[in-house]
Amino acid sequence: MADEQQHAWWQSGVIYQIYPRSFADSDGDGVGDLAGIEARLDHVASLGVDAIWLSPVFPSPMADFGYDVADYCAIDPLFGDLPAFDRLLAAAHARGLKLLLDYVPNHSSDQHPWFVESRSSRTNAKRDWYIWRDPALDGGPPNNWISDFGGPAWEWDEPTGQFYLHAFLPQQPDLNWRNPQMKAAMLNVLRFWLDRGVDGFRIDVLWHIVKAEALPDNPPNPAWTRAQTERDRLIQRHSTDQPEAHALSAEFRALAEQYTGATGRERVLIGEIFLPNERLARWYGPPERPQVHLPFNFQLIENEWDAATLARVVADYLASLPPHGWPNWVLGSHDAPRIAARIGGAQARVAMMLLLTLRGTPTLYQGDELAIGHVPIPPDRIRDPQHHRQPHLDIGRDRSRTPMPWNSSPHAGFSTAEPWLPLNRDWPTRNVATQAQDPASMLALTHALLALRRAEPALSVGAIQLLDAPAGLLAYQRTHGTRQLTILLNLTAQGIDTEWRGTPLLSTLVGPPQPGTLRANEGIVLA
Ligand code: GLC
Ligand code: MG
Repeated sequence: MADEQQHAWWQSGVIYQIYPRSFADSDGDGVGDLAGIEARLDHVASLGVDAIWLSPVFPSPMADFGYDVADYCAIDPLFGDLPAFDRLLAAAHARGLKLLLDYVPNHSSDQHPWFVESRSSRTNAKRDWYIWRDPALDGGPPNNWISDFGGPAWEWDEPTGQFYLHAFLPQQPDLNWRNPQMKAAMLNVLRFWLDRGVDGFRIDVLWHIVKAEALPDNPPNPAWTRAQTERDRLIQRHSTDQPEAHALSAEFRALAEQYTGATGRERVLIGEIFLPNERLARWYGPPERPQVHLPFNFQLIENEWDAATLARVVADYLASLPPHGWPNWVLGSHDAPRIAARIGGAQARVAMMLLLTLRGTPTLYQGDELAIGHVPIPPDRIRDPQHHRQPHLDIGRDRSRTPMPWNSSPHAGFSTAEPWLPLNRDWPTRNVATQAQDPASMLALTHALLALRRAEPALSVGAIQLLDAPAGLLAYQRTHGTRQLTILLNLTAQGIDTEWRGTPLLSTLVGPPQPGTLRANEGIVLA
């Protein structure tokens, strides 16, 4: 049985995502930075997670807040410098924490020297490092592709009389992975950081990185409605999920494995991929030529929050995995709405229990351990370019990127200055220091769940079996050797009668569980 095997840290462990702009500001400019993170590492370590994934900290004009990289092998002065990064890495390792960086291979910034050269003339040696095409016969863009942020995916460059491709902002030109020199340069980026000692990478929009060679039009999506993003008007058949992107992932993996082999420290690749199960599963690659260790699974974010739906989601996802594919679950990110805003504070506690008791590596997003909920962003403080490109959709991501509230001192201890985004309105009470004093807090619950997960191999690596359950209840068992735990989650705001048996190890509610029932919004772990 798989659950009896030895497991790597990225299988038994928990990943914590830090959004560096909003974690902790050490220099009083209102924006978080590396020294700020280092100063707050004890919070992360004491939570009981195993690894940190840092969203991009590289030099960037910040058109997409760091996902527009102008130099892949340096640190933006806003965040610090390479020595500050080395100090953070050493401080993380000293606490037993792994550190993953964010690798952004689909596109660079338009300010990257590579692109500056590429756009300088049609004959420049780096012209082919990006995707340039002549206009269509009518003078318009070369094909019908739509940017993920809305609008055409092509930008006209008047001086050289061609369009360049950008799957995201015009300030984020897509790199051409079919060019061997560009590819070699980008592989060297991985080596640069692996040589510095990082434990791996989260790979940004991995399924986007190669496009069908002839760049054919994408087919229309017949199911599209105006409530969806403009991107969804087309099916991204030719712009994403190409065989060549899988082949590249296998190359990334082989490179990571070289470092694992040479140092005995396992380096890990996580792919950001939005695809249905069968196609997501292919990103593990075949066992003899593996691709990423973990293709991110966003289904807890994408699906309705009810027991029947989630039981189906869990079963279908696990059934879709190849035998060597280790599962993973994501509940929040800098791109997704806050879980507590979406399902409410009471269910956010149940959601945390779900995330930390499912089979597979959980990724926990900063601030979710405090159950930060909806944060209104006044119109004049909206920063997210995705909002500005499609304001009518109200999908701005700023609401999930607000600063960490550390304590009840001015600016929540995040900064001595006004933070770049507003704080959650309830920060005077919803902050790390206050919740640390409160045994009933979300922080205390998260802490207890992480401790239980660490103490119980059944939770971290055990087999999982879904159980039949009354409506509104999600129930499953986790088994490791002779140890068997049962998890019962009431996804409703009413009590549910159920004859549970066993010894309660943990409840999401305060006070002892009541035999014969699950209280409203209660989740319990039973031995
Ligand atoms: C990923 C990032 C997102 C970014 C986009 C373009 O989805 O998570 O924040 O805007 O890629 O790089
Ligand atoms: Mg700062």
